[in-house]
Amino acid sequence: MGDDIRLIDAEVLRAQLVGVLDHHGVPAEQAAIVADSLVEADLRGVDSHGCNLLALYVARMQAGDLRAVTEVSTVRDDGSTVLLDGGLGFGQVAGRIAIDLAIERARVHGLAAVAVRESTHLGALAYYTMRAAEAGLIALAFQNGPTIVPPFGGLTQIFSTNPFSYALPTLDEPVVVYDIATTTVAGNKVILAKKRGDATIPEGWANDEDGNPTTDTQRASPMHLQWFGGHKGYGIALLVEAMAGALARSCFGRTERSAATAAGRDRVAKGYVFITIDPSRFSLPGSGAGSGDGSGDGSAADDYRRDIDTLVRDLHDCEPSVGSAGVLVPGELEHRRRAQRLAEGIPLSAGLVAELDLLASAAGLRALGS
Ligand SMILES: NC(=O)c1ccc[n+]([C@@H]2O[C@H](COP(=O)([O-])OP(=O)(O)OC[C@H]3O[C@@H](n4cnc5c(N)ncnc54)[C@H](O)[C@@H]3O)[C@@H](O)[C@H]2O)c1
Repeated sequence: MGDDIRLIDAEVLRAQLVGVLDHHGVPAEQAAIVADSLVEADLRGVDSHGCNLLALYVARMQAGDLRAVTEVSTVRDDGSTVLLDGGLGFGQVAGRIAIDLAIERARVHGLAAVAVRESTHLGALAYYTMRAAEAGLIALAFQNGPTIVPPFGGLTQIFSTNPFSYALPTLDEPVVVYDIATTTVAGNKVILAKKRGDATIPEGWANDEDGNPTTDTQRASPMHLQWFGGHKGYGIALLVEAMAGALARSCFGRTERSAATAAGRDRVAKGYVFITIDPSRFSLPGSGAGSGDGSGDGSAADDYRRDIDTLVRDLHDCEPSVGSAGVLVPGELEHRRRAQRLAEGIPLSAGLVAELDLLASAAGLRALGS
């Protein structure tokens, strides 16, 4: 670990984030949710979506683009499908309400879709899909955002990095959780590399402002990212846009549908959709009554979760290919990192600590680790 890295205890970081949010008028219960989403991302090693985002959120509150108090309202409720309005408050707060509703409704109906319009940045999508998987449900999440990425083969910015996540419930294995931007990496990873002063970024991450592929960190544009798998990532990004944008009655493509004034590449309004499925509704006759509550009580809900455990073990038993240390299951690296970082602390760069200390000092708080 380099000299410019500081290890910060997760609880110390959490208290600092809550303190800064509180100073900016975020109600205590809501600040706790936002901080939890950021600290969880840092613990899991998704550094692009952890405390790195606090400065952005504070700047957005100060500019009036993000409301400190999140008020979520119901636009329509048809039981298994619900459309919420996130009131341009914190995405994490509306997101928690939405995923909890999707969990509740899937238990009642077997399948639920909760869409949220007029919301803002959600953080890492795994935070929500994992919550549903830990409750025994299959979960899918889609989110769109500002027009920063051109479609495959184009130069006009139409999409965001359009993240997609799924999580699968398990019985004894950790939940399986896949969480990706449909671009090769999230834009925040390029921003973070710039902040760290990295000279280069890996090939295939980003283009420069003119659309030329580059590995030069300073020339790389977080507004010109490359799609993962070329046309394949682009095709999934289009699905995300159609779900999180058009279906959620939110902004999509070049269409603005928000009370927010910031638009296009500066758009803060984001839409998202969570889909939850109770696997016990697909159990074979005679396998018991489904509870779908994640309790692992030997009911039909366990059949599916046991199957996913089996699948995970089959994957782990797979013979490694040349040069590979073995097959990993999505979410596994993050589960390991979480355990390590809980024990040892979260590694933060000196630049990021300085940024957080500045926010803390403006909020009348002591510096991190002082
Ligand atoms: N809220 C937003 O607007 C927004 C936008 C874009 C991205 N994001 C977030 O950015 C984060 C990072 O996205 P990313 O695309 O840079 O992630 P990434 O490229 O690091 O991929 C992460 C995923 O790949 C899995 N994975 C990694 N190595 C693996 C292996 N060897 N075998 C199997 N699975 C493996 C991980 O478990 C994880 O699910 C995500 O949390 C995403 O939600 C959020």
